[in-house]
Amino acid sequence: MDKIRAGVVGVGLMGRLYGRLLKELPQAELTAVYDVDAERAAEVGAELGTKAFASVEALLSQVDAVFICSPDRAHLEPVLAAAAAGKHVFVEKPLATSSEEGLQMVEAAEEAGIVFMVGHVLRFDPRYIHARNAVAAGDVGEVIHMFARRNTYIDQGRHYASWTTVPWFLGIHDIDALMWICGSPIISVYARGARKLLAKADDSVLAVLTFANGAIAGLEVSFVLPLVQGNRQSPLLEVVGSKGMIHVMPYLRGITIHKPDGLVEPDPLYNMGPVMHGQIAGVYKEETVHFLRCIQEGITPAVTGRDALLAVTVVEALERSLASGQEEKVESITA
Ligand SMILES: NC(=O)c1ccc[n+]([C@@H]2O[C@H](COP(=O)([O-])OP(=O)(O)OC[C@H]3O[C@@H](n4cnc5c(N)ncnc54)[C@H](O)[C@@H]3O)[C@@H](O)[C@H]2O)c1
Repeated sequence: MDKIRAGVVGVGLMGRLYGRLLKELPQAELTAVYDVDAERAAEVGAELGTKAFASVEALLSQVDAVFICSPDRAHLEPVLAAAAAGKHVFVEKPLATSSEEGLQMVEAAEEAGIVFMVGHVLRFDPRYIHARNAVAAGDVGEVIHMFARRNTYIDQGRHYASWTTVPWFLGIHDIDALMWICGSPIISVYARGARKLLAKADDSVLAVLTFANGAIAGLEVSFVLPLVQGNRQSPLLEVVGSKGMIHVMPYLRGITIHKPDGLVEPDPLYNMGPVMHGQIAGVYKEETVHFLRCIQEGITPAVTGRDALLAVTVVEALERSLASGQEEKVESITA
């Protein structure tokens, strides 16, 4: 098959990253970028040696596939436009900010027969894949409980809290991963939030998740880690089973660099820039290669729209629980 002509909608942190990956990968050709901020689109287009277009429609006329990396609330329109034009879609997580919008996208993609994949990147982290495989092989017996943590620094929290919340931004990663690893959907959620630093959004949220198979999980997410020297993000996953346990320790990055002005711990998997002999390596590359392979070989992506929709319904229940102070059931999407 010829190179896949690909474009990127929304060239902020993630869109620029996928643009760079598409430029590097031999099976793709970056043919177009679009951003609502035309200046930014022109700047990133020039940096990546491709053309910036003035609308999503104009971009779609130049591509076989599109990466949608606009803020969460701005996924629906470009996904529907791409599906209507018969273009394959990779859309960043969360699929949508409501299950109604998510279902619209999933149905449009199914009707159009396009490859439709959502960026739940933990499914491309080798450690989480090992955890999933171990549970599926029965190595730890029946899952009894799990614990997942994901947090980020307050500068990131301040940026993202202007258009999302910590469960939608960070929690949804682990909610998808926990259901995938446990092999069972979450049916109810009880959540509490603390609000001290970010004026209009929760700083940190803790939740108890109950699964259809009787397992339970604790989830901890935070947007406000202090920016102090030596502090580190501490993502974590633990699985306790009837016959064994799994510890996934992504916070142990395996390298510390002690510079005169402080300690640096580069993340070997979640790279945003070239680290492998001049090219980007790690989970985002694996995810992009997988999406392109799904198009070339006509296979179903490792993360489907329906998987991502399920995670959206769980975050909706979590947000309802934060508002009501009660345990809330996950409302299933039947269509
Ligand atoms: N998988 C991950 O690890 C990960 C990490 C960060 C963000 N994300 C997700 O990726 C998406 C983008 O996040 P980001 O961190 O790149 O955000 P960002 O704020 O860095 O960039 C967003 C870009 O989208 C542009 N934009 C805004 N409205 C638009 C519209 N209607 N049409 C086109 N462009 C528009 C903005 O101008 C900006 O350039 C979000 O859905 C976010 O949740 C995923």
